[in-house]
Amino acid sequence: MFAGRLARQLAAAAKPARSVRRISTTPARKSDALFIHRDTPYNNPKIPFKFNEENLKRAEEIISHYPPQYKKAAVIPLLDLAQRQNKGWTSISVMNYVANFLEMPPMRVYEVATFYTMFNREPIGENFVQVCTTTPCMLRGAYDILDTVCKELGDVKVGGTTKDGKFTVIEVECQGACSNAPMLVVGDDFYEDLTPETTKKILAAFKKGEKPKPGPQSGRQTSENSAGLTALTEKPYGPGEHCTPDFA
Ligand code: FES
Repeated sequence: MFAGRLARQLAAAAKPARSVRRISTTPARKSDALFIHRDTPYNNPKIPFKFNEENLKRAEEIISHYPPQYKKAAVIPLLDLAQRQNKGWTSISVMNYVANFLEMPPMRVYEVATFYTMFNREPIGENFVQVCTTTPCMLRGAYDILDTVCKELGDVKVGGTTKDGKFTVIEVECQGACSNAPMLVVGDDFYEDLTPETTKKILAAFKKGEKPKPGPQSGRQTSENSAGLTALTEKPYGPGEHCTPDFA
């Protein structure tokens, strides 16, 4: 009997264990860019790119901050400079040019440009609208703001560009302005303390080719308490109060 049980145990141990491997994936977000490059008529290495005179001077100035053997450390500011010159996006020619400029392998530049989401790998519209939907903004209505932006711009989808090429909309992570949530960025400017109404006004101004005033849209100057002063409302007591006139 014992031998029979032992035989069964040995047979069970010899059987390959049935392993179930669960694979969980996160669905790609519509605003995610592909990290691959395929030559297209508008993005291929034959399209020339080089710094204009002004940016050439800027690039040389930036590089001068680094020891000559480490000039590749300037890859991010130079890519940024090149992207600005290239209407806000980083093409294969831009990356190749920066690699050549800094005497570094193009692959090292591709790695940087595909890692940092600030480098747009596809052309963008004239106004690049980035809506923050990270937790502090999300809790204060960021998705209403995102919906408002998409609807106001004629049902453009997140990650998409309007037909007239004037606006591209994407969803972004925290921009560091959480105390003024919800917020969005257009170009380099932050628009904060948004409501759907103020968002509509901002977009209407951009549509007319105007530049609305950046910053909080609630009347706040910066991120001061919107309920007014609630602390330090009277002269504080403290060591200063007890100082002798000589030390006051
Ligand atoms: S969460 Fe939106 S700016 Fe920080």
